[in-house]
Amino acid sequence: MTAVGIDAIEIHTGKLKFDLAETLAPVKDKDPEYYTKGIGLAASSFPDTYEDIVTMGANAAYQLMKRRDLSPQDIGRIDVATESSFDNSKPVSTYIAGCLEQVFDGDFHHANKGERKFACISGTQSLDDAYNWIRAGRHRGRSALVIATDTALYARGDAGEATQGAGAVAMLISENPDLVELSTEQGYGSADETDFLKPNQQFPSVDGKRSVQVYLARMREALEDFESVAGDTHPDDFELIPFHTPFPGMVRKAGLLGFRHMIRDTEIEEQLADEIGRQPRPEAFDSDEAYLDAISEYTDKLKGTETYQAWYDDTIAPTLEISREVGNWYTGSVHIARASGLKAALEADQDLAGERLLVGSYGSGAQAEIHAETVQEDWAEEIAALTIDEQIEARRDISFEEYERVHDVHNHDKQAEDVEEFTSPADEFVFDGWGRMGER
Ligand code: CAA
Repeated sequence: MTAVGIDAIEIHTGKLKFDLAETLAPVKDKDPEYYTKGIGLAASSFPDTYEDIVTMGANAAYQLMKRRDLSPQDIGRIDVATESSFDNSKPVSTYIAGCLEQVFDGDFHHANKGERKFACISGTQSLDDAYNWIRAGRHRGRSALVIATDTALYARGDAGEATQGAGAVAMLISENPDLVELSTEQGYGSADETDFLKPNQQFPSVDGKRSVQVYLARMREALEDFESVAGDTHPDDFELIPFHTPFPGMVRKAGLLGFRHMIRDTEIEEQLADEIGRQPRPEAFDSDEAYLDAISEYTDKLKGTETYQAWYDDTIAPTLEISREVGNWYTGSVHIARASGLKAALEADQDLAGERLLVGSYGSGAQAEIHAETVQEDWAEEIAALTIDEQIEARRDISFEEYERVHDVHNHDKQAEDVEEFTSPADEFVFDGWGRMGER
């Protein structure tokens, strides 16, 4: 069977930096380590006043097409995943295609375009749609462009203010991909939940504590469902495990629970038995919280073992490095995590060709999905082309007062008094009012 997967990737960060320890902590009268250690974030990327989900998505896609020397004729579909949409009818992909048509020869009239919504998991669902389209043989030799783009902003004063972010990830899905092959095996955990909602409102209503429990519960179900088709997982099966990363503290919990699950009835559980005992196996439980309570004594001990720490440092920690600097990008977050892990491996001179990744995606509301990927021969060249470090470095650090002004501009419910630009756009699409979208 011909391999299908992610052929190329580009990441575009919002141009502003909101430093959590330096800028948010003093205003909130919080210990800076609450942000840097507890939540696990140094900063959030923020969109400048001329950036939005269209410009960020278009800029990521433009870089990808330019670097890979693609024309619109090479692309058969454009799918945008977002939970920051501003149009209930016309999909964001049409706006982005309009931008791209200004700079590339030809048009996208032949391309299927759509917008995917299921909170943060829709980026992965769009990958699936592209994969299935190619597998079904409807692609006529063309690739799919998947763009995950979001402004993840919370109301001021909300606990989520610590976990904001903005940026876009563009991915090219093709036959014989250069980066990773997607496997056919996947598992789901899905339930009707009300932990995080945006019913016709700009900023989400969030039950933060519940959202963490729901993430962990649905992820556990997805892992069990994945194992029902792929067989039992073992911690040594995967070089990296990128998770959806609303903030690294969330992934610390997901990694610990994943490891606990994978070591059941293995030599690792046996080796650790003298040190921390064997884990309980709760079968029936009243709630997601009760399940977590039932295993908490064991996971607290497991967290302190060298065995777990070494696995976490190799398999999970590298996936959090970009996220730590840019915050939550909703639909793009898990794709940043994959790129971050691969980038760290490249920097450490590891050769991952042929190695496997386990990717855990999640969307509030709620659904988790887990699938495996195989790293391809040309992965290193593709990852070496990323410019995310330079972009992170180039961001303009904003003060709290500037943050409030930018936040107001991106809250479309309010009339912003002051819409000055904090950085200068250079060779990129900018938002400059309706009708002038996509000027370069
Ligand atoms: N130094 C070091 N650590 C500290 C500290 C300090 N001074 N003070 C607190 N901490 C630690 C806490 O012990 C805690 O650690 P553990 O996670 O290991 O228990 C950690 O910092 C966070 O502290 P709290 O749990 O008290 O944090 P909080 O309640 O103030 O806020 C949150 C956390 C509720 C998740 C909030 O950030 C939020 O509402 N975020 C938005 C929702 C969200 O991201 N949910 C995640 C799951 S949903 C999802 O994934 C979809 C999505 O993208 C939104």
